[in-house]
Amino acid sequence: MRKIAPSILSADFSKLGEEIVAVEKAGSDMIHIDVMDGHFVPNITMGPLIVSAVRKMTKLPLDVHLMILNPDKYISDFAKAGADMISIHVETCPHLNRSIQLLVENKVKPGVALNPSTPIESLKWVMTQLKYIVLMSVNPGFGGQSFIPNTLEKISALKQEIIKQNLDTEIQVDGGVNASNVEQIARAGCDIFVAGSAIYGKTDYENAIKSLRE
Ligand code: DX5
Ligand code: ZN
Repeated sequence: MRKIAPSILSADFSKLGEEIVAVEKAGSDMIHIDVMDGHFVPNITMGPLIVSAVRKMTKLPLDVHLMILNPDKYISDFAKAGADMISIHVETCPHLNRSIQLLVENKVKPGVALNPSTPIESLKWVMTQLKYIVLMSVNPGFGGQSFIPNTLEKISALKQEIIKQNLDTEIQVDGGVNASNVEQIARAGCDIFVAGSAIYGKTDYENAIKSLRE
């Protein structure tokens, strides 16, 4: 079952509550929340306070994408705020195995994200512990960037590895997903499609989600 995860980074924050309810009504499967610290990525966005506010607005799973240095320090705060699944970046975790354990201890679905230039081999010894793997298809930091084409090859390679090892790990693709490239991304093996501008940048969210799904 393929899933659509609207990224609220592109939502109108002056009416965030309504924006959450609107994408839920329009048929999303989860809400993707982009946390940026101004250090790991060149932008600052939101923290646990926003996650707990979003939690009050929807029953959909909250997928928190941590683009922050030293994520270990904040995992329990985001879990307490209502995250159902959290991804941390391999580039920020010198002790990745321990960080994943921390996610598990905090009872969230553990995920790890890879920057476009980070090889999937970096996950070799933690693969079996992960519920999902996020392949960044843009350099993280901003919404509305263009999909990096060689991500397709990376998705296929990861999919093959998951099948080979007979795992149920889902592949999430994040960045530049839109109605014109979604089919190729799906064919390559993506399970969870993050879309910010391709949903919140449109006036009709239901139509936007429908055209991604089709
Ligand atoms: C990028 C974020 C993405 C972003 C996606 O750093 O992780 O989740 O919001 O936005 P679009 O779909 O507009 O590329
Ligand atoms: Zn994201």
